Amino acid sequence: MQRFYLSSIVKKLIMSISGLFLIIFLLVHLGANLTTLISQEAYNEVCHFMDTNVLIRIMVPVLALGFIIHIFMACMLTLQNMKARGSDRYAITGKSNISWAGKNMFVLGIIVLGFLALHLMHFWSKMQLQSFMGVEAVTDPYTLVADLFRNPLYSGIYIVWIWALWFHLTHGFWSALQSLGLNNNTWIPRLEVIGKIYAWIVCLAFTIIPLFFLLGLDK
Ligand code: HEM
Repeated sequence: MQRFYLSSIVKKLIMSISGLFLIIFLLVHLGANLTTLISQEAYNEVCHFMDTNVLIRIMVPVLALGFIIHIFMACMLTLQNMKARGSDRYAITGKSNISWAGKNMFVLGIIVLGFLALHLMHFWSKMQLQSFMGVEAVTDPYTLVADLFRNPLYSGIYIVWIWALWFHLTHGFWSALQSLGLNNNTWIPRLEVIGKIYAWIVCLAFTIIPLFFLLGLDK
């Protein structure tokens, strides 16, 4: 019993560190994406930097590992919770003070994962991956992005994904810091507010980018 308890804490710790790592990654990714609103040259230059910078080359496998660890631990913790609850699905999650997002982190994560695969297929495989493999990458990444976002279906799916991520972040942000020990009555409400501000800023900014192209504001 003691071993089970300890390993749960370790799992939660790994989950929170990998989640916070992904939260920081989102800010970097957003910063790069926002240059599409400045100009074609600015975005293409950022992509060229991302393709050739040594530090970024080192960070890409670390990021992939961060995702793999987060997803693996998510599956382990979800299975563990399901086993602990047995047939009474709401024995643990039914408490009224747990948000809808808190109860549905796995489903929200699966939505995020689904889009991540689509995103890697449409953007990353044609851009950064090509230059990592020594093949000439797309010479004009801006046009690739603009063409995809001008497609209402693609932009629609992208925006739905962003708002699934919003739910994941509103719970994940404070939950991660709580797992790291900031779990007193003063800090939890503050972290919830900071987490919501972070989620709103990041998700609104990510949403503006497809809308910018969809509404033809780039012309
Ligand atoms: C950019 C993408 C993502 C970010 C920023 C992110 C962030 C976070 C954070 C900060 C937490 C809170 C950790 C804690 O409570 O200690 C969390 C929890 C969780 N994440 Fe993610 N996540 C992402 C993608 C995913 C994906 C792809 C999955 C796939 C299944 C996933 C599944 C989960 C689950 C199930 C939990 C709750 C674990 C638990 O406490 O029982 N996440 N996430």
